[in-house]
Amino acid sequence: QPTRLADYTSPNFKIDSVELDFDLKPKSTRVKSKLALTRVSGGDFHLDGEDILLKSVTLDGKTLKRADYTLTQTELVLKDLPDECVLEIETVCNPAENSKLMGLYVSGGRFCTQCEAEGFRRITYYPDRPDVLSVFTVRLKAPKKDYPYLLANGNMVESGESQGGKSHYAVWEDPFRKPAYLFALVAGEFDILEDSFTTMSGRDIPLTIYVDPGDAPRADYAMDSLKRAMKWDEDTYGREYDLDRFMVVAVRDFNFGAMENKGLNIFNSSLLLADAETATDMNFERIESVVAHEYFHNWTGNRITCRDWFQLCLKEGFTVFRDQEFSADQRGADVQRIKDVRALRGRQFPEDAGPLAHPVRPTEYMKIDNFYTATIYEKGAELIRMLKTILGPEDFRKGSDLYFEMLDGTAATIEQFIECFEQATGEDLSQFMRWYEQAGTPQLSVAVDESLTTPVQGTRITFSQNTKPTPGQNEKLPVVLPIKWQAIGDNGPLTEPQMTVLTTEENTVSLPRFDEAVSLSVLQDFSAPVILSSQQTSKDQLRLMAQDPNAFNRWEAGQTLARKLIGTQALALETGVMPETDDALRDYCEALRNTLHDDNFDNSFKALALTPPSTAEILQSLDKSDPIAVYLAGDWLSRAVGNRLRSDLLKRYHALSDDGSFSPDAESAGRRALRNRCLSLLASGRDAVTAGLATEQLGTATNMTDELAALMTLTKLGGKRVNASMENFYEKWKSNPLVMDKWFSVQGMRHHSEGVSALVGLTEHEAYDRRNPNRVRALIGSFAMANPNLFHAPDGSGYDFFTAQVLDMDSRNPQVAARLVGAYGIWRKLDDQRQGQIKEQLRRVIAAEPSKNTLEIASKTLGAG
Ligand code: ARG
Ligand code: ZN
Repeated sequence: QPTRLADYTSPNFKIDSVELDFDLKPKSTRVKSKLALTRVSGGDFHLDGEDILLKSVTLDGKTLKRADYTLTQTELVLKDLPDECVLEIETVCNPAENSKLMGLYVSGGRFCTQCEAEGFRRITYYPDRPDVLSVFTVRLKAPKKDYPYLLANGNMVESGESQGGKSHYAVWEDPFRKPAYLFALVAGEFDILEDSFTTMSGRDIPLTIYVDPGDAPRADYAMDSLKRAMKWDEDTYGREYDLDRFMVVAVRDFNFGAMENKGLNIFNSSLLLADAETATDMNFERIESVVAHEYFHNWTGNRITCRDWFQLCLKEGFTVFRDQEFSADQRGADVQRIKDVRALRGRQFPEDAGPLAHPVRPTEYMKIDNFYTATIYEKGAELIRMLKTILGPEDFRKGSDLYFEMLDGTAATIEQFIECFEQATGEDLSQFMRWYEQAGTPQLSVAVDESLTTPVQGTRITFSQNTKPTPGQNEKLPVVLPIKWQAIGDNGPLTEPQMTVLTTEENTVSLPRFDEAVSLSVLQDFSAPVILSSQQTSKDQLRLMAQDPNAFNRWEAGQTLARKLIGTQALALETGVMPETDDALRDYCEALRNTLHDDNFDNSFKALALTPPSTAEILQSLDKSDPIAVYLAGDWLSRAVGNRLRSDLLKRYHALSDDGSFSPDAESAGRRALRNRCLSLLASGRDAVTAGLATEQLGTATNMTDELAALMTLTKLGGKRVNASMENFYEKWKSNPLVMDKWFSVQGMRHHSEGVSALVGLTEHEAYDRRNPNRVRALIGSFAMANPNLFHAPDGSGYDFFTAQVLDMDSRNPQVAARLVGAYGIWRKLDDQRQGQIKEQLRRVIAAEPSKNTLEIASKTLGAG
């Protein structure tokens, strides 16, 4: 029985204030809560609760008897409450045994919490829903020696000692009303990094990052990112920080990236800690964006929260969009856009085309945890981006200003959000709402009625859209598509950039007469999240690669060529009929060579241009294919590029070497990215010099980006040296958990001659920890997502191993297991044999009677087919 959007009813009690009192002990934490209630409408009072022991319930000072309330596995229900009353509840929970990592748990000997979406009910009985807002006062008590820091949301108002100094306590007050999912507490021993930020109105805000002892220097970059994010939100959205202090805590055991708890953000340590020696440029980039993301939630999520979990994209889509724009401002808009689109295509498009497709605002779910998806986050962000594209930046800002003004302090809906933009601008956005309601990626087709290459009067372009049915949604209506386009000739653009907003199934626009061959650059900056199909030839793509002023579409033209080449080759490998790709391949490589030498582009753009689309992306454009053939086809293309561009790549590799000093800035990172891209392509070309270069780089690297790139290059080259290099790397880094995660992920992705039994061995490795989500994702996640040869092994051994791992994980941590099992969502894209194998695995998962989380994903993935 799923939860449905249509069944929403508003809460019948207001909670005027909450007082929580924690006596923190790892195996038995006592929680007292005191709720001041006011009735809003008739009915019983329902409090959610899960895995906690109820000790007592007191109403207006009178202890209730067991017969006075109803208690089930998931609820405490009170009948006939007075219109105003005070309810006190005492419970006990066991943080040390909390392997789900939801609610209150212990990580590395420290107490921490994760309450979104439904974790607070694992701490105390409470109406655990986002539309019940209250002010929280939290008292924490714990032994002083083991837990010197006691933290909760808001401002600390009191602290002191008890039991002759053995124990201490702290009282925290959060003046902003919030739902329970934003509650957090942390207790333990930390090193701290302190700084401050002066807000636009001149308030001085102390900033503190709490990390494992010894890690404080590794928090520098996160702190720097935080200050830049605080400033950016003031400049870009007029949003100022509101509490008297801001705290960020790193924890090692965490189910996902990070959490925006009011004034007390909690981070997976992998998204907070970085220094040159142990973190890659990608880590730095992610830290910058996630620190910003969580901070931005203070307005988009906390000050304005969601009415119910169906509105999750209200906070997540908008906040992802905000962090993407922040990163674009910090690091360059073109490269950022390319990376965001790659991520969208790599994760969200497959989701939208597969059995788990759902609208950005879903209408039902079994477990909300399963809906923290690429669709809600990344497609949700694309919708906000389109809104801005359609309205223009000034009107967009007017809309967001009105949103913050009108809905501050409320739990809002998507309709209310859109209404603010309508009111502020006078636009009718009713059709735009379809984007929130319809699943599936629209196809945009572009047709030209005369060949653009012959000069004719009034050539016409026809844009048309179509969305294929998705599970449970057969009828699709046209959506609002902002299409940015421009006509390009051999010497550059022939028109100004244009924008056509397609609102119907089809629309035609006219072009003036041109006296030369023309190609259309359509969907510049990826102005809408669609799959583009056009009659464009390779000639068009080559022209765009050379002349398109829009950097995104220059990159895209190269990707389109690469997709065609890889697709053709994959088919050839499957059928044994080799195609005539010689000319196309040569032209593609020449175009890449030109890009490599073009001074108009920065290194990070070039690195991206030299990266072909992933196997996952190619699989989406094919039907019933052999994933290993697709992988080999991709390798074939990289090999050709590596061979043909050998001397250019080699020269560039040497020219880009550094002087040993490290800076994480975008330009330095771009230099390293291109250099390592050159190395990787040389390795793909099986060039004899590569092994030497990589070995040298591995031995001399002074930063993790170069060290890891060298290690991955060596594993790609294979051979005897690989095991020794892996071993050395292990010995060097075994005391650093975050680097060990990298080691395990290389193990998960690399070729193992003994097949999947190597993976079994790794799960028994001394450094493997099956309770730690990062470690499991590093090995098992990377195996499923990035090791097509082993995961899709024809004998099914990869699937067999993977299912066993999922079930093992499920017994402890259903959320993480459910996320893993989603990897099987690819099955409809695969050949018949693998389809059969995966379906059998999904049945095996279901037959094992897994958690509700895993059951939902496995059964939806299996679907009707
Ligand atoms: N709100 C957090 C963020 O996006 C993520 C919380 C994820 N929760 C979950 N149950 N998956 O920053
Ligand atoms: Zn978020």
